Amino acid sequence: MRILVTGAAGFIGSAVSRYLVGEVDAEVLVVDKLTYAGNLASLKTISEHPRFRFVQADICDRPAMDAAFAGFQPDAVMHLAAESHVDRSISGAADFVQTNLVGTFVLLEAARGYWSALDAARKDAFRFLHVSTDEVYGSLGEDGLFAETTPYDPSSPYSASKAGADHLALAWGRTYGLPVIVSNCSNNYGPYHFPEKLIPLIILNGLHGRELPVYGQGTNIRDWLYVDDHARALYLIATRGRLGEKYNVGGRNERRNIDIVSRICELLDDMAPRGAPHADLIRYVADRPGHDQRYAIDASKLESELGWKAQETFDTGIVKTVRWYLDNEWWWRPLRDKVYSGERLGVLNDVAKAGG
Ligand SMILES: NC(=O)c1ccc[n+]([C@@H]2O[C@H](COP(=O)([O-])OP(=O)(O)OC[C@H]3O[C@@H](n4cnc5c(N)ncnc54)[C@H](O)[C@@H]3O)[C@@H](O)[C@H]2O)c1
Repeated sequence: MRILVTGAAGFIGSAVSRYLVGEVDAEVLVVDKLTYAGNLASLKTISEHPRFRFVQADICDRPAMDAAFAGFQPDAVMHLAAESHVDRSISGAADFVQTNLVGTFVLLEAARGYWSALDAARKDAFRFLHVSTDEVYGSLGEDGLFAETTPYDPSSPYSASKAGADHLALAWGRTYGLPVIVSNCSNNYGPYHFPEKLIPLIILNGLHGRELPVYGQGTNIRDWLYVDDHARALYLIATRGRLGEKYNVGGRNERRNIDIVSRICELLDDMAPRGAPHADLIRYVADRPGHDQRYAIDASKLESELGWKAQETFDTGIVKTVRWYLDNEWWWRPLRDKVYSGERLGVLNDVAKAGG
């Protein structure tokens, strides 16, 4: 099977590509613009594999997308390319609208052009999996879970741009018959996670004895999924999911942010002691504007229809993750030194100062 994966120099796409090349013998073409979040080092273990190819291109570039489809002749697309960090979307939404909305539109159109010229058998078998987030559903109160039927109610420029892209993808299925499926996943964590996101930021700041920022009171709740569990789910959905459907993906691992940070501190105390408890470094900082209180996924459709189940619990996955960062300084050191060193992003008065 030939699978075109967009955004696979990023966190989840690289895990998906390692899975496709290493576990299911697929042929993979990665299409990635290599923004600040794209890193070819994340694909190092498969970059020399004969079933792996890479092209640096922007999904907004229609001729480049047409060339990728024509040259590679994929059986499926897994579309992960996106601007993905909520805090950056608060400081500057333009790239989010451009890549997440316009880029998804361009990719859908390129896929449609390619797909409509396929012979009947390949046309029937073709799949376009649009990979999205649970953040499109907005915020939950103390109870309840997001189902596939939960109405969209996005709070941030990031989640709004993803929500728009989900609608485009489903509309391309209904209007043009493009074989589209949409997945909505909860927060991922694991190896190769860019150090601006909560878990890697806390691990690396902790390791360096720097402050550990916790937004608001740290009571916001996310439903954490180990990235390799997401990769397996995406392959199942792309190959066996029903057309035109949405599938929620989540690990049934709800945790408050402060509990995540505290657990990482305990693990660092054990694996990388610094002479004082890492929890001493915790600092409560001004909350993120529009910060959703709670996300939690009902993944029963994916579990019952496709037989998927998360293999990692948060307790097992977080130990692996902390260990991975301790053992893989080669991967994160250049990012911390040259791309992002841990400063606060997405504070509104910064926007005001910049006239934005
Ligand atoms: N990280 C999560 O917890 C999470 C949860 C659910 C869904 N998702 C979704 O999964 C996908 C991947 O997320 P991630 O965390 O791996 O993101 P990431 O930021 O780590 O990676 C995004 C990748 O997309 C590439 N990219 C950005 N703009 C591009 C463009 N215009 N053209 C081509 N490539 C471009 C970047 O270079 C990067 O390699 C996103 O669509 C995101 O919305 C993420």
